Amino acid sequence: MACIWLASIGTALSAYFILAANAWMQHPVGSVVNTTAGRAELRDFGAVLTNSTAIGAFTHTITAAFVTAGVFVAAISAWHLTRGQHSEVFRPSIRLALVTVFIASVGVAVTGDLQARLMTQQQPMKMAAAEALYDTVAPASFSLFTIGSLNGSKEVWRTALIVTHHPEQVHGLPQVRLTRSNRPHFDPATDESQLTTSHYPGGS
Ligand code: HEM
Repeated sequence: MACIWLASIGTALSAYFILAANAWMQHPVGSVVNTTAGRAELRDFGAVLTNSTAIGAFTHTITAAFVTAGVFVAAISAWHLTRGQHSEVFRPSIRLALVTVFIASVGVAVTGDLQARLMTQQQPMKMAAAEALYDTVAPASFSLFTIGSLNGSKEVWRTALIVTHHPEQVHGLPQVRLTRSNRPHFDPATDESQLTTSHYPGGS
């Protein structure tokens, strides 16, 4: 039993460090671009570990893992129960699996929503692309599935997503490009302060 706990805690810790590294590439807090050396340099490891993007990704991935594991255990238990095999083992296991799936599903939805709002704030271009949003809209509609044209000029088909909890505008692709190129001091290659914890757009 101790080995199982150690393996699962170790796996979760490993997942956190992997996701923190990935999150830093999406939202590079705690670092500056050293233009003399021509490289990004880490200044605050604590900021990398507490990056809001990492926390959102970790909580979402772990709850998603519980949903996946719960569905797997429930399916195996149901398979045995429908054949009348080992009901003393599989009846409690299906009950536990279904409770896990129910609780974890709520967690997945809440953390997924958190991720989407962080993405809208920190990576507006990614959200605009994910939503095939060619025009800034206020408020954004509720989107489940969207297809855009290959040359990125117009949407082909959409059913719409609430990415903010306010009736504020969500920028479309051309507008995000315009905002970025017009933003003063945005070029990280020429301005070190843009990539520091306190100055990076979107905060920590
Ligand atoms: C209400 C339902 C859900 C919402 C709103 C949601 C939303 C999101 C968002 C916004 C991302 C970030 C994508 C990116 O940064 O490129 C994401 C990533 C991900 N989602 Fe979901 N998701 C939902 C359900 C699920 C389910 C059911 C699973 C699996 C069982 C799942 C597994 C994942 C995984 C593994 C990632 C990649 C990890 C990451 O980049 O953070 N999600 N989801």
